[in-house]
Amino acid sequence: MQIDRTGQPADWLADAPLFTAWQRFLHADAAPFTIPGHKRRASTLDPALGRLLDADVPLHGGADTVRLSGGVLREAEARAAALWGADLCRFSTGGTTHTNQVLCLAVGRPGDEVLVARNAHRSVLSGLALAGLRPTWLPVDLDPRTGGPLGISVATVEAALAAHPQAAALLLTDPSYLGTRSDLPALIGAAHAAGMPVLVDQAWGAHLGFAAGQPAHALALGADAMVTSAHKGLPAFSQASLLLARTERLDPDRLDRAFEATHTTSPAAAILASIDAARAHLASPHGGAALTRVASLVGRARARLRAAGLLVPGPEDHAPGRFDPLKLVVLLDGRADGLDVEQALLAAGLPVEMADRRTVLAQVGLVDDATTIGRLVDAILGAVADPPVGHPGDDPAAAGMTQGTATRHDVLPPQRLTPRQALFAAYQTVPRGQAVGRVSAELVAPYPPGVPVLVPGEEVTRGTLDALDAAMAAGTRIAYAADPTLATLQVVIDARP
Ligand SMILES: Cc1ncc(COP(=O)(O)O)c(C=O)c1O
Repeated sequence: MQIDRTGQPADWLADAPLFTAWQRFLHADAAPFTIPGHKRRASTLDPALGRLLDADVPLHGGADTVRLSGGVLREAEARAAALWGADLCRFSTGGTTHTNQVLCLAVGRPGDEVLVARNAHRSVLSGLALAGLRPTWLPVDLDPRTGGPLGISVATVEAALAAHPQAAALLLTDPSYLGTRSDLPALIGAAHAAGMPVLVDQAWGAHLGFAAGQPAHALALGADAMVTSAHKGLPAFSQASLLLARTERLDPDRLDRAFEATHTTSPAAAILASIDAARAHLASPHGGAALTRVASLVGRARARLRAAGLLVPGPEDHAPGRFDPLKLVVLLDGRADGLDVEQALLAAGLPVEMADRRTVLAQVGLVDDATTIGRLVDAILGAVADPPVGHPGDDPAAAGMTQGTATRHDVLPPQRLTPRQALFAAYQTVPRGQAVGRVSAELVAPYPPGVPVLVPGEEVTRGTLDALDAAMAAGTRIAYAADPTLATLQVVIDARP
């Protein structure tokens, strides 16, 4: 980021109409008789509460008029569409959770089939349930060396296209949680040749495509739509997400209707303005420069960690464009217990995005610098200097489950009901041993990142339970299950569709 020590706004912010409108409202001498109820005067109740709420400006009756007559959101979205090469862009305050649901609601009709990569986030599952779509799951290839996800192979997609030519869309998640990418041009080319739109959950790749020599984003690689969490890859507010689409194979009115049907009617302008500002930064030379600088710092961090004998995958281990250069993933390879490393990092004031017994995943942002990244590397090296000998998380085969893909299965379990049918089905709670062979009523996912291992409507198999056990043994939190110990599971009583 550009730092202006004079206190003047950075030059690139002048190109951010929604940010400018948000800021104008902050400085206006107004006594609004609109929502939000704090009226930006919560400091009269308590100064700390005021600090919390003072940045909260509504879009309606704040950054714009109640009637949105200024069109600042539309203008900001149009600029983002132009930057990403999209025909349509919407800014969401509901995270990529919301924008994934929008994509599902905008393709096909209830009962239609969709081809879905099995590393889909739980928000895709909720989108499928809302839209009544029938997923055909595509297994993700794993890296035998690291156990992490590699991506969906072209052969997998071609076979699925041949077997399911009537499917309404191909839904991919790219990059993976660990920074790996599929051969998107080949996958998209195959789907388009079959007349199928490709929708990409690029939640972890908002920064992709804006620095020379760094991987391109999904739209540039031919996707029909992508959704991305501005708050993950860019300096933006939590919950900030973009939906970007091309309309050759997708209906813009369906996208808009699906978006409006599921978005709040009171969006926070601060969140939306932060997307606008992040876009303006990317569009300026400062964006590319920051990406290049941070990628180089992460490259140096990888080199230091590798020199200490740690396994640290990077772009050089993959085909060009198939690894996010900003991703810092450390595989401890038996050198230390990742949960101990995480504790040491927490004690040093360096919380990380994810840690399990064999992995530490640090989310690096454009505002990181040599000091913050250096502190992180020093602390990791300090924590592995005196390693315990071996630990239960050493098995690379277990890693796929814990690190963002549910494809440890050789054969994916049958999807006996749609996620929507399972959501509304009568269910009962049974001891886990009795759940095998029954149909799951619930979604169970190691978190972070929330990639389901057990999907509603899917048959519960021994392989699934083993995989969840492996994730628990690796120290990963099992989320969303009614019984987080997994001693019992909720299954559908009558699994006839
Ligand atoms: C692949 C993927 N998609 C979507 C989401 C949801 O994004 P958000 O947190 O912006 O709602 C996540 C969150 O981690 C994710 O990992």
